[in-house]
Amino acid sequence: MPSSQRPQRSTQARSRRWFAALAAVALVAGLAILLMGDALGGPSVSAQAPGAAAQEPPPEEGFRGGENPRSNYWGAVREGQSGTTTVKGTETGVLIQNYGEIYRQIRNGPLTTYGSWLMGLMVLGLAGFYLIKGTVRIHEGRSGRLVPRFSELERYLHWSVAVLFIVLTVTGLLLLFGRAFLIPVVGMSGFSATASVSKTLHNFLGPLFVIALVLMIAVFIRDNFPDRGDIGWIRQLLGRTDNPQIGRFNLGEKGWFWMAAVAGLMVSITGLIMDFTIFGQTRFVLQVSQILHGVGALLMIVGSFGHIYMGTIGLEGSFEGMATGYVDENWAKEHHDAWYEEKVREGQVGVAPEGPAASEPREGAS
Ligand code: HEM
Repeated sequence: MPSSQRPQRSTQARSRRWFAALAAVALVAGLAILLMGDALGGPSVSAQAPGAAAQEPPPEEGFRGGENPRSNYWGAVREGQSGTTTVKGTETGVLIQNYGEIYRQIRNGPLTTYGSWLMGLMVLGLAGFYLIKGTVRIHEGRSGRLVPRFSELERYLHWSVAVLFIVLTVTGLLLLFGRAFLIPVVGMSGFSATASVSKTLHNFLGPLFVIALVLMIAVFIRDNFPDRGDIGWIRQLLGRTDNPQIGRFNLGEKGWFWMAAVAGLMVSITGLIMDFTIFGQTRFVLQVSQILHGVGALLMIVGSFGHIYMGTIGLEGSFEGMATGYVDENWAKEHHDAWYEEKVREGQVGVAPEGPAASEPREGAS
């Protein structure tokens, strides 16, 4: 065994122990998130008991016989009829809007319950996958020769979207689940302080995310259309070919791109509708927007778990592509063979990296 391999073996053993610990933490986190769904248990946690609001006020003291004008009034209000008011604005005459109760049942019911189940199962699935498979190593090891993979623009756009997405995810999940989980821990005042900071961050950073996402879609879309490498990727997964002819992005990445694009635009449009209520939006429009926003966001969050896993510990040599712009030649050969052959034809293999990537010595590079 070449001498350069021995210290690497102990490093690998150490990193494997670290990652095993990480997987254990992920496992506990996954279980905690799963339990979260049950603890939420639908509308009874935060929502006011649905029956309570409908109770009729007692008839007026000393009123005898015939119709009670107050209950007629409240009956009309309960039906969502619009009354007259001096307050200016959209549907200000409507005191109670009936869809509100349905919206709350969906938000505190299926949305939070199934959302937390999906997140929990994804984390558990990834932790289990990692424990069984571990990090997918570069079979040939690193060659030390670099291939340019992402331009500066692509990387800046990607990390702007990624950082904004993570802040919006944390603040969004706090707004969705915080009431049930933070109040018992930090009390009402702690929760309301956290919720108001989260809401402010979410409302101000949301529009920035929309801009970054649209730009990222525009820049990455051309390499995310179906091609013959997609079939090759499936055949390679099934062990049916050693020459899959995979292009710049494989079918899994393209799937994530389109999910991030479609769910991302759904979250963006509904987010802007809720953020800028200056177009006469009715409560119904805002309720539907919030449910669609929640569904889109939870789908993106679950998908991003898989993407972040593959982009960090899942696949050796992947992270540096988006961090420095360069990947190792053997990584390119093994994961994107058709794209690598293109780079060879363009004379782009073994190029000296520009900027910060130049100073980074490659592990195992001769
Ligand atoms: C901490 C969070 C993230 C990490 C560590 C990460 C990591 C990576 C890495 C390593 C790649 C390069 C993969 C390759 O070379 O093929 C990549 C590509 C990409 N990432 Fe991320 N990413 C993160 C968050 C996000 C988010 C939040 C989005 C979108 C909402 C996103 C969208 C993309 C897209 C579109 C690509 C290009 C692949 C394609 O177009 O098919 N990433 N990411």
